[in-house]
Amino acid sequence: MDTPLIAQEESPRLFDCPGWLYLLQEFDALYRQGSAGGSRLIRSHRKRVRDRISQIVDGNPAVAPRPPAAKPVTAHLPRALDLGEQGAVRGIARALSHVAPLLSWEYGYERVPKALARKYAYCEVLGPRGPVVSERLVLGFVLFAPKTTYPQHSHQEIEESYISVAGAWSENDAAVHAPGSLILNRPGEEHRITTADLDPCLLAYAWTGPETRLHAPGMKLSSTRKARMAQGI
Ligand SMILES: [Fe+2]
Repeated sequence: MDTPLIAQEESPRLFDCPGWLYLLQEFDALYRQGSAGGSRLIRSHRKRVRDRISQIVDGNPAVAPRPPAAKPVTAHLPRALDLGEQGAVRGIARALSHVAPLLSWEYGYERVPKALARKYAYCEVLGPRGPVVSERLVLGFVLFAPKTTYPQHSHQEIEESYISVAGAWSENDAAVHAPGSLILNRPGEEHRITTADLDPCLLAYAWTGPETRLHAPGMKLSSTRKARMAQGI
């Protein structure tokens, strides 16, 4: 597991890094302007995320750059950004495109199924490990190639939302989500994602939860047996 980055005295601060600052402003707008669809739980999650973003930005946090890293799926990022810039949440797609060369894409799992390693990766933009350092919130993006199945998993003690930036996708075979949609996964809820046949899929995500958990989320795919049982197969 990676060691958390500690903000050094000489670290640049957020206001010295306009690309990260404007991206966080777009995250804030995403959680401020979208609808909760009448759901009290989603409304309070959206508020929690944007309140934390405001507090973090106001504190001008340290920026601890991570070495840029690509994964096979990042070959799909330019297309995902093109689609995002035509869609319902184009502001965040544009802001992400401006920091794209700085992103550190990773898998997060100790063991990644071979097929998934070619079709999935995520990058954090704010969190305990940087690049914008915060102990209280994690913000990032997850990218999928077309025709991907992201196997069943859950996050202990972490509340997770995905906001769709580009592409069409489905969670637990329950609905098809288009750009602008928000999906809330409460702590421990099992979820499995599939993406459309032709377009890549780019999701912005936010994690809230205890600081110890945000530091060490312990990402783990559910075992096939457990996943099948959860789906009643
Ligand atoms: Fe998830």
